[in-house]
Amino acid sequence: MFVVFLIFLFFFHTSVLAHYSATITNDGPVVLGANITFQAKVFKNDVPQEGTFKFKWRDNMKIQNKFEETRQGHSTWKINHSAKKYDHGNYEVQVGVYIDSDIFDWSLCYASASFTLEDHLVGELILQQDNQKVGTYINSKKDLQQVVQLHGPDFEYLSKSAYNYDIKWWIDSQPFNSSKDLHGLMWHHKYQDANVSHTIGVSIVAIRNESNSNSSEQPSTEVDFIDSTNSPVNTKFDNATDHSFKEKSSYSTFSNITNSDACKRTQVCGSFSRRITVKAPVENVNIIGNNWLKHGDMLNLRVTCNGSAPFQFCVRFYVGTYKVKGNETCKYPPAYYAHCDFSVPHYFRESKSYTVLLIVRNDVHTNITAVGVNIYEVTKHPQLSVVVVPLTASILAIILIIFGVAFYFQNRNSLAIEVADFDFTNNNELEYKTFKERLAEAIHNAFNKPEDFSEEDSYNEAPSTSNKKYGSMQ
Ligand SMILES: *[C@@H]1O[C@H](CO)[C@@H](O)[C@H](O)[C@H]1NC(C)=O
Ligand SMILES: *[C@@H]1O[C@H](CO)[C@@H](O)[C@H](O)[C@H]1NC(C)=O
Ligand SMILES: *[C@@H]1O[C@H](CO)[C@@H](O)[C@H](O)[C@H]1NC(C)=O
Ligand SMILES: *[C@@H]1O[C@H](CO)[C@@H](O)[C@H](O)[C@H]1NC(C)=O
Ligand SMILES: *[C@@H]1O[C@H](CO)[C@@H](O)[C@H](O)[C@H]1NC(C)=O
Ligand SMILES: *[C@@H]1O[C@H](CO)[C@@H](O)[C@H](O)[C@H]1NC(C)=O
Ligand SMILES: *[C@@H]1O[C@H](CO)[C@@H](O)[C@H](O)[C@H]1NC(C)=O
Ligand SMILES: *[C@@H]1O[C@H](CO)[C@@H](O)[C@H](O)[C@H]1NC(C)=O
Ligand SMILES: *[C@@H]1O[C@H](CO)[C@@H](O)[C@H](O)[C@H]1NC(C)=O
Ligand SMILES: *[C@@H]1O[C@H](CO)[C@@H](O)[C@H](O)[C@H]1NC(C)=O
Ligand SMILES: *[C@@H]1O[C@H](CO)[C@@H](O)[C@H](O)[C@H]1NC(C)=O
Repeated sequence: MFVVFLIFLFFFHTSVLAHYSATITNDGPVVLGANITFQAKVFKNDVPQEGTFKFKWRDNMKIQNKFEETRQGHSTWKINHSAKKYDHGNYEVQVGVYIDSDIFDWSLCYASASFTLEDHLVGELILQQDNQKVGTYINSKKDLQQVVQLHGPDFEYLSKSAYNYDIKWWIDSQPFNSSKDLHGLMWHHKYQDANVSHTIGVSIVAIRNESNSNSSEQPSTEVDFIDSTNSPVNTKFDNATDHSFKEKSSYSTFSNITNSDACKRTQVCGSFSRRITVKAPVENVNIIGNNWLKHGDMLNLRVTCNGSAPFQFCVRFYVGTYKVKGNETCKYPPAYYAHCDFSVPHYFRESKSYTVLLIVRNDVHTNITAVGVNIYEVTKHPQLSVVVVPLTASILAIILIIFGVAFYFQNRNSLAIEVADFDFTNNNELEYKTFKERLAEAIHNAFNKPEDFSEEDSYNEAPSTSNKKYGSMQ
């Protein structure tokens, strides 16, 4: 009987286990001392559960931390690990989920996850120009905004637990600016030496408030709370001693400070660096060439500019006037050129006005310049005889008409004979037909009219189909 009960219990137990699962997320890595937040969620057959469960947390640190709470659906554990008691490294956290019961804990499932504690502040050095993030290339004509964006928990820790800051900015390992408060996490500087590379560095040292950090946690030393045969909790991942963080070796002198012993004992330290290359923007865009052309003549513009190489160049053509929006791009990725000196030959088939858009760009700037081009029809000067003959003829005709009209009025009465109009041909039809023809002609003209077109000469590239269509010559 007892055996049957045991077997029943076993199957019931495992079936319950099979249905439930849990996940753990954390907001690490964080610096030693900062709060790390773990969150566990319970699922039954992959469906999030909103019921009330008991959560039992623990980690695998040398001095173990534990936490227990009864919550609906999910549990959050916020904990800090003082640098005095713990080493940085990868650790593991576990959570056991139990049916909420006062009599005994009926376990539903376990979950475990690894987390990372660092011995330096976690964050990113962000570089911006005109409020836009920039990469390696910096515009030499614009301010560079340099901001250390610390990871949330690290910033909170730094601002709440320290009282003395020393933030230093370095350029090529030379100190350039320093600050005694957290406003120093942001620094504006203008790098004006075009074509030169620099390493921007920032070091942050904060002295911890000793009075605060002493009174804090009292971690328990008991280890067992989850059935040891069921869970991998006993595996100790004490990788801390192996964990030297890799950035250290790549830093130059400015980061020396973070390696110091003082950093471990009484301070929170961090350093960040970025390598940049300063480039002069595209400037003094100069365009020479005739933009008022006889029909049949070639447009030939020469475009030069100043700035840092490499340059990219392309041309776009529009019928009529085109308003530059500023976000125009080349249709095809153009090639790179070492010098800003381009020629733009183009043949326009129609005599019209056009807008030629010249797009010059380099790594830090794009200049879009519009040039209006007018193609006029060649009208030959008419010769004197051609003018005189029709003129005299017209004058003669007018005189004749005047005489005719005068003659008519003079002899009106004698000519007043009633004449019947026997013309029954349908004038309307005739007119209608003419109108239809005219309409057809108008439609024909409208569709044959060259529509607004936009084409692009990929500089020094094979002519595109549109180029062929409009008879461009390159
Ligand atoms: C560390 O945790 C303890 C206990 O939760 C808390 O009293 C203390 O303020 C925390 N320290 C920091 C720096 O957050
Ligand atoms: C860390 O979390 C504890 C408990 O929520 C809180 O009292 C403390 O202020 C937090 N510390 C920091 C630095 O956010
Ligand atoms: C340091 O940077 C701050 C903020 O950008 C600025 O106000 C200050 O003048 C700078 N100091 C030096 C010495 O450059
Ligand atoms: C640091 O500790 C001093 C006392 O030693 C206290 O007056 C100060 O408020 C503390 N600062 C912070 C940010 O906790
Ligand atoms: C902090 O604790 C250490 C021993 O762990 C003690 O020597 C030191 O005096 C304490 N500091 C404060 C400010 O309480
Ligand atoms: C400990 O670190 C080593 C390398 O430093 C790594 O190969 C190993 O997987 C780590 N062990 C654990 C349990 O994380
Ligand atoms: C640290 O700085 C000292 C001089 O202050 C220098 O001699 C040493 O090479 C530096 N170490 C590293 C790892 O940069
Ligand atoms: C392009 O260059 C010309 C001539 O240097 C200048 O007038 C124009 O403002 C520039 N346009 C842009 C968008 O930089
Ligand atoms: C532009 O470049 C040319 C030659 O590269 C140089 O002669 C000229 O002084 C430069 N102009 C400016 C304003 O930098
Ligand atoms: C930077 O290099 C470009 C060529 O790539 C040159 O035209 C320009 O004058 C250089 N600028 C400086 C400040 O040396
Ligand atoms: C360029 O900007 C205009 C508005 O100025 C916008 O209507 C258009 O969609 C933009 N084109 C591209 C390719 O972003």
